[in-house]
Amino acid sequence: MTLNRTIRYAAAATLAAAAIIPQATAAVTNTVDSAYLFTYALPEGKSGLRLAWSLDGTEWKGIGDPKPIDVVKSDFGSWGSHKKMFDPHLTRTANGWMLSWYVSDKRETVAVATSPDLVKWSPQRYAPVGKASQFGTSPANTANYNAITIDGKEYAGETRKVGKDFLESLLRHESEQKRKTAEEDERVTQDPERFAGITGLNITARRNDKPALPVSPNLFGIFFEDINYSADGGLYAELIQNRDFEYSPSDCGKEGWGPTYAWTLSSPKDNSTIDIQTSDPIHPNNSHYVKIHSEKAPQTLSNTGFDGISLKQGEDYNLSFYVRLDGNKKRRFTVSLGNDDAIAEKVAVNVKPGEWHKIDLRLHCNRDMTDGRLNIEIPANTSCALDMISLFPADTYKNRRNGLRRDLAEALDSLHPRFVRFPGGCVAHGDGIDNIYDWKGSIGPLESRRPLRNLWGYHQTRGLGYHEYFEFCEDMGATPLPVLAAGVPCQNSGRAWCGSHDEHTTLGQQDGIPEEMMDQYIQDILDLIEYANGPVTSEWGAKRAANGHPEPFNLKYLGIGNEDMITEVFETRFRQIYDAVTKAHPEIIVVGTVGPFYEGTDYDEGWRIADELNIPIVDEHYYVSPGWLINNRDYYDNYRRGATKVYLGEYASHVPGRKNNMETALSIALYLTDVERNSDVVEMTSFAPLLAKKNHTQWRPDMIYFDNESLTLTPDYYVQQIFSCNQGDRYIPLDLEISSDKEDVKRRVALSAMEDTKTGAIIVKAVNMTPVNLTVDQPLIPADSECELYILSGEREDENPVYQKETRRAGGILHLAPYSMIVLKSKI
Ligand code: AHR
Repeated sequence: MTLNRTIRYAAAATLAAAAIIPQATAAVTNTVDSAYLFTYALPEGKSGLRLAWSLDGTEWKGIGDPKPIDVVKSDFGSWGSHKKMFDPHLTRTANGWMLSWYVSDKRETVAVATSPDLVKWSPQRYAPVGKASQFGTSPANTANYNAITIDGKEYAGETRKVGKDFLESLLRHESEQKRKTAEEDERVTQDPERFAGITGLNITARRNDKPALPVSPNLFGIFFEDINYSADGGLYAELIQNRDFEYSPSDCGKEGWGPTYAWTLSSPKDNSTIDIQTSDPIHPNNSHYVKIHSEKAPQTLSNTGFDGISLKQGEDYNLSFYVRLDGNKKRRFTVSLGNDDAIAEKVAVNVKPGEWHKIDLRLHCNRDMTDGRLNIEIPANTSCALDMISLFPADTYKNRRNGLRRDLAEALDSLHPRFVRFPGGCVAHGDGIDNIYDWKGSIGPLESRRPLRNLWGYHQTRGLGYHEYFEFCEDMGATPLPVLAAGVPCQNSGRAWCGSHDEHTTLGQQDGIPEEMMDQYIQDILDLIEYANGPVTSEWGAKRAANGHPEPFNLKYLGIGNEDMITEVFETRFRQIYDAVTKAHPEIIVVGTVGPFYEGTDYDEGWRIADELNIPIVDEHYYVSPGWLINNRDYYDNYRRGATKVYLGEYASHVPGRKNNMETALSIALYLTDVERNSDVVEMTSFAPLLAKKNHTQWRPDMIYFDNESLTLTPDYYVQQIFSCNQGDRYIPLDLEISSDKEDVKRRVALSAMEDTKTGAIIVKAVNMTPVNLTVDQPLIPADSECELYILSGEREDENPVYQKETRRAGGILHLAPYSMIVLKSKI
């Protein structure tokens, strides 16, 4: 299987080698039998393993120069620059090479990886220094390093002799890497040069005699993760920030972040007190609450929401809170919505003394405000505790209580997603084992849910939890695709099992759930299936019914793992989970995982496991440049048919500055026409990430940006919508003739056609990512047919292109402006 997938690269490598290598190899082969190889990493752990070579031991050339290549990078620690390599030491083994290094300057943890050729690498293994003797090697004693000079700069590392054949293979790899990098660096800014002398292009398409291929009914879905304030402060319509006083300084390092964040407590001038307490809470999972004792003057508690509370004149709001009033007398509280200048609503509420109880109120707003606050005034001479203070617009998506923000949910609904993957991403497998998203802690009464640190640097109330995700899917007519950790946390975890950074330096970031706890973890997964699909007479089906949904949620797919490092720790746990789920629920389609890239160790290892277990479908992720998408349009053409299928679960086109523009959108559009052609292999896709709140964004680009008032739909959104809303069930094979003999020009245009056999509609999509006009001569929709048209057009790096949807007569020869795409759906 791996061979089938990588054969295209092998062929390209051979061609590239033939074209580029000769000078370098000739220099080696003709003069020597062996050469010198130097291995090193940059000081302070700032690179992976790098190589340099020399014929005489004095003149050195770095592999990859002028952009040195890391032949292997340390994968230990949290994102990017935290992954470090110190004191690398390379030894020969019977099968190739073994590399050992320290993962931090504390030199407490040793890492090892093996390689047959210094190109492909095994999964990495880590151990504290005291236990690293099992590896049979150790990082370098740097006193033994020697120094060499590359391009005038001195480096310390190890030198050894290698055969000329081995050096030649490294140089071929270098050449192949350079070719790939040049392709990845392709940008639309180079177009004037690339298209010089070309004034127009045309495609002639003819239907060939190959049979029409079935199109996956689930090709376009969405991936929802609570990143960029997508849930609390975003899709989840709750307007009160930190409603449960559970924000914790350990969530993030932000100043003032803790139980009182977003709250203002009036400063008493007498002996009144106001503080956070934890004894006798409403529920142990929600232990913090505010305790207020007023003496001569009333005291006011205010919440500023997420960047202010957005209030709309004429709208109703549902306010609720829990109160425990001391003493034996009723008290009259005052609740208001307003800002410094005006009050939008004010009501009085009688509170009875005694244990925790809930108060529900309907508020009506008499003016618009973007900077509203909720104020609760406690009268003088009162002692009370308050918690779970919540304010929702009455007008939510599908009018659900505890519901979703209507405009955002409707924007997602209008993508017509066939499935929703949730709750992440990294949020699903968490930052350390204790941060894995436990689905059971996200259902049931809101006050009983277990809040969770969000690894993107904030807090999850989980008011939007598994039950609400299932309901959201149902409301949109989408299939739920929950993703659960494969018994290991995020490969970029900065915190380990105990949540301590110190322990992390010796434990490794992708530790596994201890063996003795795996049975319970697996049971939790089986319980999720029962919660979703079990009868109301079953334990978890009954809980679903108690939560307001006696009907099953029709769960079909279950993701296990999210782009994890495919290590031994992962594999053992994944296999345990996979066996248990497939045995107990053969009807459930398990979605496996193959790492965070389109190639490399995790990809190879993930696919090996998929092949061995015959996993029905695996989740591929790749965030790549437009150049990669343009130059890899045949990526899935060589995948083996009839075996494990692909869910392209996270992807996006990334340009420097991480913008969403016509360059990102059209490069994806081109690629998606190829995905459609390969939908017998690629069954599902979802762009990532989906939502981002302005000023709270940890990751770009995203599909939709929003603030409290409005949404910005990006060019990437329109491309997703165009594709998702224009699917058929039969892919029509076409022979295309493109009026250019330049491959890099041909790759910038695309055409794909489908039929919807239920309605008889024909759908033709054409993409023009060039600076010239494109005409498409297509035989499928005759001229002057009544059609629905979708057109996206703009400048090459336009962030605000024109999106038109219209119904008119069209067909026959299509005309596409520079940098545009068009979809025609014939009306029947
Ligand atoms: O989509 C953002 C992040 O990218 C996801 O959480 C993770 O799976 C991937 O690395």
